[in-house]
Amino acid sequence: MPADQMEIKKIVAAIDLSKYSEDTFLHALMLARALGAKLVLLNVIDTRYLDTLAQYDVEGLDRDKIIRETVDAHRESIEKDYLTRSQGVDIEVMFKHGLPWEEVIHAVKEMGTDLLVVGSKGHSDVAGVLFGSVAEKLQRHAPCPVLVVRGPEHMRAAK
Ligand SMILES: Nc1ncnc2c1ncn2[C@@H]1O[C@H](COP(=O)(O)OP(=O)(O)OP(=O)(O)O)[C@@H](O)[C@H]1O
Ligand SMILES: [Mg+2]
Repeated sequence: MPADQMEIKKIVAAIDLSKYSEDTFLHALMLARALGAKLVLLNVIDTRYLDTLAQYDVEGLDRDKIIRETVDAHRESIEKDYLTRSQGVDIEVMFKHGLPWEEVIHAVKEMGTDLLVVGSKGHSDVAGVLFGSVAEKLQRHAPCPVLVVRGPEHMRAAK
């Protein structure tokens, strides 16, 4: 397709609520505003630890309730930290649960995404590692271009 016919109308930002998510959000927002695109903030509730706990027959473990409560808590912090800064951009917040990289790829495909924005790392933030495992899988499997945003230290270094 010729470049003058290409459009970026939907941008998905994968947000894990780590310190990397701030710059991921800001870059996705800036691009959405400049391009007149819709922005979807996607957060996956990682259920692996719940599956591990379930193996041990933990008494009173209500998987659905834990997921619901986690979504509520995450929604609250996304509303406070990000939606208040929407600058007129049409932002949708979306939650999935399961294995993070699989859920992001599935959602991105389902929505017809033009650009996926991710942080280079997340909560684990292992020193000396360039990409976290989710960031790596997303670059490997995404059906669209992926913009990888590095952490705040690199933003300053670029100035
Ligand atoms: N649960 C999640 N929901 C949405 N996006 C996520 C999630 N987990 C990771 N990501 C995306 O992937 C980026 C990189 O995070 P990743 O998890 O790969 O790094 P890490 O936590 O440092 O390492 P690892 O998880 O492999 O131990 C995040 O900044 C975010 O954009
Ligand atoms: Mg992680």
